[in-house]
Amino acid sequence: MVEFKRIAVIGFGVMGSSISQVFAQAGFEVYAVDISEEILRRGLENIWSGSFGLKKAVERGRITEEQAREALARIKTTVVLAEAVREADLVVEAAFEDLEVKRRLFKEVDSLAPLHAIIASNTSTLSITALAAVTRRPEKVVGMHFFNPPQVLKLVEVVRGMLTSDETVSAVKSLAERLGKVPIVCRDSPGFIANRIGILPILEALRLLDQGVASANDIDTAMKLGYNWPMGPLELADFIGLDVLLGIAEVLYRETGSPAYHPPPVLRRLVAAGYLGRKTGRGIYTYK
Ligand SMILES: NC(=O)c1ccc[n+]([C@@H]2O[C@H](COP(=O)([O-])OP(=O)(O)OC[C@H]3O[C@@H](n4cnc5c(N)ncnc54)[C@H](O)[C@@H]3O)[C@@H](O)[C@H]2O)c1
Repeated sequence: MVEFKRIAVIGFGVMGSSISQVFAQAGFEVYAVDISEEILRRGLENIWSGSFGLKKAVERGRITEEQAREALARIKTTVVLAEAVREADLVVEAAFEDLEVKRRLFKEVDSLAPLHAIIASNTSTLSITALAAVTRRPEKVVGMHFFNPPQVLKLVEVVRGMLTSDETVSAVKSLAERLGKVPIVCRDSPGFIANRIGILPILEALRLLDQGVASANDIDTAMKLGYNWPMGPLELADFIGLDVLLGIAEVLYRETGSPAYHPPPVLRRLVAAGYLGRKTGRGIYTYK
């Protein structure tokens, strides 16, 4: 049976930093890697003082100050991939949603991480089988898809690639449970379950905005008050990140051939302008 103690996280952006926090709060040693010291600094800031960070958890009475400090102390960071993965039992990749970037990383990680290590991807849409194919351990490659914000949302999609072993799937399922999450298992398929369904209303809301049918606020209000959604689809788009959303839509459109996933022009325009949502202070809405 696989025993997880040390977790390497690749990519310390929105998801990688928050996933590191989730593991650290559950008592795991985390070694995170990204490409610059500045990104690592911002990631640690997100873990400490972000909206779902450790400081907020203390303020909300969920954990003690001491627990917060201990969790933070369990997270180490580096810009050297080999250092992060050398002693890992599990590697969670949360780099850019780009198949070539991820395939390059998987190949490198495969040559650097211990042979017993499971390599998981947090990809939203890309093929786990295609990532497994560049490694010498395809049976130990799996999808471990957290949802944003992972500190709050309970779902983890455990994605079984064509060659993923039953042992790997069950090890990652029990690990997700140890994190206080609810794992579901699905086959390798574009967008898996939640994004395949969940992205459609967001794209439709963007089309309504593009066609001038209503303001962003009114579109969001319609779904919040009419369907009791906790967040409007356009607020959600800004929260996910418009670049991430565009990436998801492009893969789903290409892989399924369904026009429902065709990215609306307004989404491309916003991304081209660098308005990526909350993380850049401006997206469909403007943030302070
Ligand atoms: N944003 C979401 O709501 C969300 C939800 C679930 C899953 N995901 C998935 O998680 C992954 C990361 O998304 P994100 O929103 O955190 O993106 P992000 O842009 O905030 O972070 C990605 C990070 O990866 C780093 N990176 C890129 N190449 C690297 C390399 N070779 N080595 C080390 N670091 C590298 C980047 O510097 C960046 O900091 C994507 O696959 C995305 O589809 C995102």
